[in-house]
Amino acid sequence: MNGQILVTGGAGYIGSHTCVALLQAGFDVIVLDNLSNSKPEAIRRVQHITEKNLRLIRGDLRNRDSVFDVFTAHNIQGVIHFAGLKAVGESTEKPLDYYQNNVAGTANLLEAMAHNGVKSVVFSSSCTVYGVPETLPVREDSPLFAVSPYGQTKLTIEHMLLDLSKSDPDWRISILRYFNPVGAHSSGVIGEDPMGIPNNLMPYVSQVAVGMREELSVFGGDYPTADGTCVRDYIHVVDLARGHLSALAQLSNQSGVSTYNLGTGKGHSVLELIECFEKTTGQAVPFRMVERRPGDTPVVYADPSLAESELGWRAELSLADICADAWRWQRNNPEGYA
Ligand code: NAD
Ligand code: UFG
Repeated sequence: MNGQILVTGGAGYIGSHTCVALLQAGFDVIVLDNLSNSKPEAIRRVQHITEKNLRLIRGDLRNRDSVFDVFTAHNIQGVIHFAGLKAVGESTEKPLDYYQNNVAGTANLLEAMAHNGVKSVVFSSSCTVYGVPETLPVREDSPLFAVSPYGQTKLTIEHMLLDLSKSDPDWRISILRYFNPVGAHSSGVIGEDPMGIPNNLMPYVSQVAVGMREELSVFGGDYPTADGTCVRDYIHVVDLARGHLSALAQLSNQSGVSTYNLGTGKGHSVLELIECFEKTTGQAVPFRMVERRPGDTPVVYADPSLAESELGWRAELSLADICADAWRWQRNNPEGYA
């Protein structure tokens, strides 16, 4: 696909890494982001890494008119849609914010696309749509079930995309279900910059290692796993970013909706991740075993074989690469983009 690619949420964690990959592949990139969970500095750094320019439009998907204006003003060929809220816990406290941002925002985006004849989109979904998986590794045809309002917004958007495709066969849609995105660009120049106390394991580990936080709480040591801690499929964000380019390329050869797991196919426990981080970086990560976190699933990891056979994509970077790159980012930027 040639021409301009609109990246919603492109200033965010996964979006910024994907912008690097897009620019390096020669795409002309426009980012639409309301900066509610990101900083323009991320975009400046993407330009620094790639030595290329991209346009940042500060705008909100909830504002229908401004989304339409973006399509009127630019010759957009396709969209990678990252923008949305993503904190599972917060979604149970503020469900309407999640429905407004994620579902209503996506409806505005798709309307603006349809109005302007732009019918190619790659959407950020999540393995949270599998709820508590019945069989492992998780395949794309596993039963779907939302365990949080956040997960329900992802499922609702997936349904919206399927309905849209049924109504108009010209749509080309790729739904990517990410497992646990972690790590940072190998330059150490861009990475994950959570606001406040991190909800997720990897940024918490890095912040403990750099001395910002005293110790990590490991949520539950009595799960039915080899060492008692939960197992996840941690995927390097640079592998994930590459997956978006593969999905974008595939859109030209497909019609309708394709859905892919983006994971490594390997599960690692919380204790394995801590051990790998300490070994790779030489930094101690003091931790304390505490109660389980409500809502956590014991074991989740992907069957990524469909993405490999249809997209020609597979994750290449290891857990050690993830730890080394997350640490380089954290060490060079203890305060994130601040
Ligand atoms: P992020 O918060 O770093 O990036 C999301 C970006 O969207 C932010 O820059 C934010 O400012 C912007 N945004 C939010 N609401 C907006 C709105 N209404 N209008 C315009 N911009 C808006 O998150 P991320 O980790 O990069 O995640 C990107 C996408 O991937 C999200 O849709 C998320 O749900 C999904 N996802 C993330 C993970 C993960 O663990 N990081 C896992 C599975 C799926
Ligand atoms: N964990 C800790 N201590 C912490 C943080 C996490 O022990 O301080 C544990 C959790 O209990 C879990 C594992 O580390 O066992 C991974 O937790 P994360 O919060 O990093 O990731 P989750 O698998 O819970 O969820 C993430 C995203 C969700 C998304 C899901 C699937 O946060 O938004 O992946 O994509 F839905």
